[in-house]
Amino acid sequence: MKKYAKLICAVLVLALALGLGACGKPAEPKNALEKIKAEGVLTVALSPDFSPMEFVDSSKTGQDQYVGFDVTLAKYLAEELGVKLEIQAMSFDACQTAVSTGSVPMSISGYSWTETRAENYDLSDYYYAGENETEQVLLIRAADAEKYTKPEDFDGKDVGAQNASLQMQLVTEQLPNAKCVTIGEIGVGVLELQNGNIEALAVADGNGTQIIANNPDLVKCSWQFDVKAEYEANVVMMHKDEPELLAAVNAALKKAYDGGLYAGWYADALELAASASAIEVTVED
Ligand code: ARG
Repeated sequence: MKKYAKLICAVLVLALALGLGACGKPAEPKNALEKIKAEGVLTVALSPDFSPMEFVDSSKTGQDQYVGFDVTLAKYLAEELGVKLEIQAMSFDACQTAVSTGSVPMSISGYSWTETRAENYDLSDYYYAGENETEQVLLIRAADAEKYTKPEDFDGKDVGAQNASLQMQLVTEQLPNAKCVTIGEIGVGVLELQNGNIEALAVADGNGTQIIANNPDLVKCSWQFDVKAEYEANVVMMHKDEPELLAAVNAALKKAYDGGLYAGWYADALELAASASAIEVTVED
């Protein structure tokens, strides 16, 4: 009898140990940062139609094809978090939906800080990528340079802007009598402008420079949007209420800033953007 009691005891101890073992297993990640670390992957959504921030090197394939300032930044963030990077290319508005639904934790896609975004997402501290967005301009056909010189000239005209972008907000606010036409992808907007389907396309200045370099039939309108200082730098967009991830991203941004890394990243992005294999890609969702 004693013998059996010992055996039962041993079995019980074993079962208890196994049970405890199960409890001691790595717990379910409690927040987005823990989840990223547990999975070993940082997934970042971006819309590669915005040179020099994010575009495609057509001489490469797979993950390597995505290049530009934000891609370098995304790699740096992943490295700082000690995980691998996976880029998911999608349209600009889809990027924002993906973060909002939580299908990706983060999007880095040249986002300006805006009040609406600040309400709906966690936005990082500013990172400053060269001169890209210090000015916000309207691209027009070179032949129309004399025709469009002031805001009133666009009254009743079709003016394109990327869907869910700062530029769309600027057109609505500063050209209230124009018809704002939402464009899914910037490259499509360029074609619409060249085909005469729209009269102007609102873009960030640095992006406009890149577009004109490849499309000499387009110019910047002599009139420009009024730009608030907070629109000039960019922010990383994250799913709302993830303070741990936000803090980790801000710490990495500070480290990159203190290390003086941004200027080199921007110069590299400009150089790549000027290469023959650089293209801006339209991603169909
Ligand atoms: N900075 C502008 C915004 O916040 C434009 C960003 C466009 N980015 C892109 N990848 N298409 O809306």
